[in-house]
This record gives sequence, C-alpha cells and structure tokens, in this order.
Amino acid sequence: MRITAATLNYRDLLVVEGRYNPNLSLPLVPLSDGAGVIDAVGEGMTRFRPGDRVVGVFFQGWLEGEPSAEKLATGLGAGLDGVLCELRVFDEAGLLPVPDHLSDAEAATLPCAGVMAWSAIVTLGRVRPGDVVVVQGTGGVALFALQFAKLVGATVILTSSSDAKLARGEVLGADHLINYRTEPEWSRPVKALTGGRGADLIVEIGGAGTLAQSIRAVRVGGTIAMIGVVAGAAASNLPVPLVVMRQVRMQGVTLGSRADFEAMLRAYTAARLRPVLDERRFAFE
Ligand SMILES: NC(=O)c1ccc[n+]([C@@H]2O[C@H](COP(=O)([O-])OP(=O)(O)OC[C@H]3O[C@@H](n4cnc5c(N)ncnc54)[C@H](OP(=O)(O)O)[C@@H]3O)[C@@H](O)[C@H]2O)c1
Repeated sequence: MRITAATLNYRDLLVVEGRYNPNLSLPLVPLSDGAGVIDAVGEGMTRFRPGDRVVGVFFQGWLEGEPSAEKLATGLGAGLDGVLCELRVFDEAGLLPVPDHLSDAEAATLPCAGVMAWSAIVTLGRVRPGDVVVVQGTGGVALFALQFAKLVGATVILTSSSDAKLARGEVLGADHLINYRTEPEWSRPVKALTGGRGADLIVEIGGAGTLAQSIRAVRVGGTIAMIGVVAGAAASNLPVPLVVMRQVRMQGVTLGSRADFEAMLRAYTAARLRPVLDERRFAFE
C-alpha cells in the first residue's frame, strides 16, 4: 500500500511520549490511521488489485466477534508498526475499500476515532431515536460521536471548554451546548434539559476528571461509554453508590473489529457522511 494520508489521534501522542505502553518494543513506526492506494499485490491475493483505494484496519488481527488479548495486541502504531511511512506491506485482511465519495485524507480519519465513536454510539451504546446523548468535548472521537448520534436520531448535548467550539458544534448538529469551564457541575444543566431524568448515554472522554459528573448526569439504567482519559486516568471521590443504586452500565470501549469498521463505512456510504477535518495539513517530516 502506498500511504497518501495519515492522521493524528490523541493515542499517537501517548505512544511517542511513552505513556501508552512503556514496554513497547522499539524501533516502531508510529500512527494507526492511514489511507492510500494498493501499489502491488502478492500471489493468491483476491480482495484488492493495484490502484484500489484502501484504508487500514486499526486492530489488524480483530476481524470480527468479541475482542481478546491476542486481537488487541495487533493495533497499528503500537503493537504493530504503524502507517507514518511511504509504503507498507499489509495482510489483505487488514484493509478495507474507501467509499467513493471520501478523499484519502477523509478516509484516514476513520480507523481509530471513527470506529471508537461508532462502537460507543451504535454497537455497544445501542442509542435509539429520541435518546439523549452527552458528548464531552470537541476532539476527534467526540465529533464522530456527535455525527453518529444525530444519524440515529438522538438529541445531543455537547460540552466544551470553548464557546467558539460549541458554536461550531451547533452547526454540526448539537442540540444543546454546555461550557464545562463556566459550568463545572454540568450534570445540573443535563438534568434540567432532560426534565430531571438524565441522559441515556454519556460519551466519557475526560475519564477521571469528568466521571463523577457523568455518574450524576446519566439516567437510571443508562450507560456511560468509557472512552478517554484526557482529564486524568486515576479517580478518587467517585459517587460509586449512585452507579449501584441507579443500575448504571459502565461500558469500556476499545474500538471495534473490522466488521464494525465495515458497518460504519456502509453507513458513511448510505448517508453520504463526511468526517470533519481541520484545515491544517503537515508534511511527512
Ligand atoms: N479506548 C480506545 O480504544 C480509544 C480510541 C480512541 C481514542 N481514545 C481516547 O479518547 C480520548 C479522546 O481522543 P481524541 O483523539 O478524540 O482526542 P483529541 O482530539 O485530542 O480531543 C481532546 C478533547 O477532549 C476535550 N476535553 C479535555 N478535557 C475535557 C474535560 N474535562 N471535559 C470534557 N472534554 C474535555 C477537549 O474538548 P474542548 O477543546 O472542546 O474542550 C479536547 O479538545 C483520548 O483519551 C484517547 O486516548 C481511546
């Protein structure tokens, strides 16, 4: 595969800073998410031909079904060499075709943040039309979560540290906006906006720094999709009794399989979705 576009995730920062897994075997090619063109195929390969546009699957060894420790050890840019390179040899099972309406750069945003949000909202989150979803922040995973929650007909409450970003989130479809800097106890407006019921699903991006508010903001029997740790990894003073007394489902999300990625790409094609891209582009160096 000739790589024509690679994108940056928060995880890639953790990897190069040694915080993702201090025991990674080095040297390592970084970055998990890349798209490009098939340059040549080996003997007996049937899924692709030279010239086909393709995107890499995040976990090369997790094709379908439940995850396992072995499958989760096959992530690009950590367990395996990543995509910040010009040419890379893939097993043909580890690539998927790029939908025609997407550019290579757009496709390269999807394997990590996109599949993560798809699992949080659709596969594991089981969001239904009319549900209320809280999306924390306006980062990569969050904007995909906003897109998928709107696709399935949910009401989205978006939080951010910035009013300008909230305004942009509104253009992208967010129904209600909360600035978590000026409103640190944001579970209160979530409760007010839902008539005291609470949200059906919280897309938990902050981790330790936001979990206490998420537990207060989720409805009885609701779900907290545990995704990120951008506001800390270890928590104390959590209102744990509320999790028990309100039958809250705390669902860890570790991306998804190739089958999940394929399902997401079908939705992209059917609904002509496009990912949100920053205007900035960086050269390979
Ligand atoms: N488990 C997995 O397999 C997996 C896969 C992908 C990502 N992740 C994790 O998901 C997290 C997000 O990744 P990303 O790539 O989307 O990161 P990103 O693009 O860097 O986004 C970070 C955003 O988080 C928001 N944020 C920071 N502190 C917050 C707080 N206290 N409350 C609410 N929002 C807050 C900020 O939004 P504003 O600027 O709007 O305030 C910031 O822009 C990371 O922890 C990453 O490791 C996990």
